[in-house]
Amino acid sequence: MTPIEPDAALLDTVRSAERVVVFSGAGMSAESGVPTFRDALTGLWARFDPTELATPQAWERDPDLVWAWYEWRAAMVRRVAPNAGHRAVADWARSAQLTVVTQNVDDLHERAGSAVAAHLHGSLYAPRCGGCTRPAELDDDRFDGMAEPAERMTPPSCVHCGAAVRPGAVWFGEPLPDAAWATAADAAENCDLMVVVGTSGVVYPAAELPLRAVRAGATVVEVNPQRTDLTDAVTHSWRVTAAEALPILAAVR
Ligand code: OAD
Repeated sequence: MTPIEPDAALLDTVRSAERVVVFSGAGMSAESGVPTFRDALTGLWARFDPTELATPQAWERDPDLVWAWYEWRAAMVRRVAPNAGHRAVADWARSAQLTVVTQNVDDLHERAGSAVAAHLHGSLYAPRCGGCTRPAELDDDRFDGMAEPAERMTPPSCVHCGAAVRPGAVWFGEPLPDAAWATAADAAENCDLMVVVGTSGVVYPAAELPLRAVRAGATVVEVNPQRTDLTDAVTHSWRVTAAEALPILAAVR
C-alpha cells in the first residue's frame, strides 16, 4: 500500500455515501499556489500578522493597509488556477449529492466547476460598502498588472453613500453570514460523509461543522498532511494533500 492509498473501510464508506459534504480550508488551495492563512506571509506582507489584519479594529485603525492586503490577495488568486483537488470535487458532484462548504475567500472551487453552497468567511470578490452595506461594483481590470500593489491603497468610496468600500471577507469578531451558516450546519447534520480538507480547525464556529457531523453519525475524513485540532475527533485522518486525495475519493465507484 502506498502512503496515499486510503484504507478499505474508507473506500467502502465513500462508495456507499449518498450525501457528501466537502468542507474546505486554506490547504485546499495551497497546491494552486495560494499561501494558507497560517503560513508565514512573504514579501510585502511578511511583517504583518494576518490575524491582526483581518479585524474590524485594523480596518478602523488603518483602512488603506487592510484594503491593500485584500486587493493583493484578490489579485494573486486571479493569477492562479484551481488544482486537481478542486477539479475532483467538481467531478465528484456529478455522481453524488455533494455540498461544498468552504472557509476560503477565493473562487477556485467555482472556477473548477463547483457550485459552492456556503462561503462561510465571505469572498475576496464581494466588496461592499462599510457604511450602507450595499455591494460595490468594482471593475475587475483593476487587478491587471497588480503583481505587488502598494502597502497602502485608499479604498474606493461607495457610489450610494460615500463611505469607504470594505473587503467582502468576514473578520475575526464578526458573525458569519446567517444564510451561509444555516446551509452549512444543515448539510453537516444531514450527510453520511464529510471530507474535511486543508483546515487547521482552530477558527470557530466553522470548526464546529465536522464535530456536528460526527455527532449526527456521519463518517468524517480529514485530508491534511499535518495533524490538526480536529484529528482526534474525526473518523479517519488521512495524511495526504488535497490534490492527492480528492481525485482518489472522487474516482471511487
Ligand atoms: P489555516 O492556514 O489555519 O490551515 C491550513 C491547513 O491546511 C493546515 O492544517 C495545513 O496543514 C493544511 N494544508 C496545507 N497544505 C495542504 C494541502 N496541500 N492539502 C491539504 N491540506 C493542506 O487555514 P484555515 O483552517 O482555512 O478566516 O483557516 C481558517 C480561517 O482562519 C480562515 O478561513 C480565515 C482565518 O482566520 C477568516 O479570515 C475569518
